[in-house]
Amino acid sequence: MFPHRHLLGIAGLMRGEIEAILDLAEEYAALNRGGTGDHSSALRGLTQINMFFEASTRTQASFELAGKRLGATVMNMSVAQSSVKKGETLIDTAMTLNAMHPDLLVVRHPASGAVNLLASKVNCAVLNAGDGRHEHPTQALLDALTIRRRKGRLSRLTVAICGDIAHSRVARSNILLLGIMENRIRLIGPPTLMPAGAERMGAEVFQDLRAGIEGADVVMMLRLQKERMDGALVPSMREYYHRFGLDAEKLAAAKPDAIVMHPGPMNRGVEIDGLLADDINVSVIQEQVEMGVAVRMAAMDLLARNLRSRTAERGGAAC
Ligand code: NCD
Repeated sequence: MFPHRHLLGIAGLMRGEIEAILDLAEEYAALNRGGTGDHSSALRGLTQINMFFEASTRTQASFELAGKRLGATVMNMSVAQSSVKKGETLIDTAMTLNAMHPDLLVVRHPASGAVNLLASKVNCAVLNAGDGRHEHPTQALLDALTIRRRKGRLSRLTVAICGDIAHSRVARSNILLLGIMENRIRLIGPPTLMPAGAERMGAEVFQDLRAGIEGADVVMMLRLQKERMDGALVPSMREYYHRFGLDAEKLAAAKPDAIVMHPGPMNRGVEIDGLLADDINVSVIQEQVEMGVAVRMAAMDLLARNLRSRTAERGGAAC
């Protein structure tokens, strides 16, 4: 069903594997709404370590909650207080943690490719919680689950992704996933925020927001990733909002039942109008957060099943 050892990206996943994660996540979403506290023992006896080398609110909190709801022992490694600040390399830190025999390692890192490198050095299952501008697979999966719940399907939809595409791992993972599921993808933003070869990713590129969202089923807004920009790539925040900020008036170009998404953190008045973001008739931002916990439960459950069967084959302890 899900034959992988790690979840490093959407690249390399098959359509059926994506559907398997989403189907299991749907079960966890129902359980989470039931509010019975400890939901499952899927990760009982396993240790999960969260290593976040970059700021995070939603992703870290939901991985922590997901692990706890499945019965894992969860440890958050605080990078600010760790030896990383004393100059230890990522690999040395990882090897130290590996020696403590975790079963699941959740990693966020500012360098693209860092999580793949780390996965090649440790024995446990690694989940990528975002690496540089490369991939953020659980975000794309939670977005996909939200879309599927709201639209009743996850294919043959027109999805417009707008904003800082060039620096966004969320955009990259979403483009891959939505492509695998056979959707029409449109990328909207100024040329300075568009990755080279965007068309080769199977998407149509627009510089005009209204033209790009015309007839769209889903409009996904992205934050300006200033921390990943070398210099000023937009003239001013006011100018950016005027051209690329989404408000109710511009959204009128999309389908009447279009939904508005944002991975957070959101900059109100920069990429999105605050009133629109809070409008529960169109905005699904809160549901995205809710589905984040369910998707992370599903992903860790599936990886843990593989971990347990590999351990059973070896006839020994995990890791
Ligand atoms: C995103 C990220 O970190 O890539 N946030 C998230 O995980 N929800 C997007 C962003 O930082 O803008």
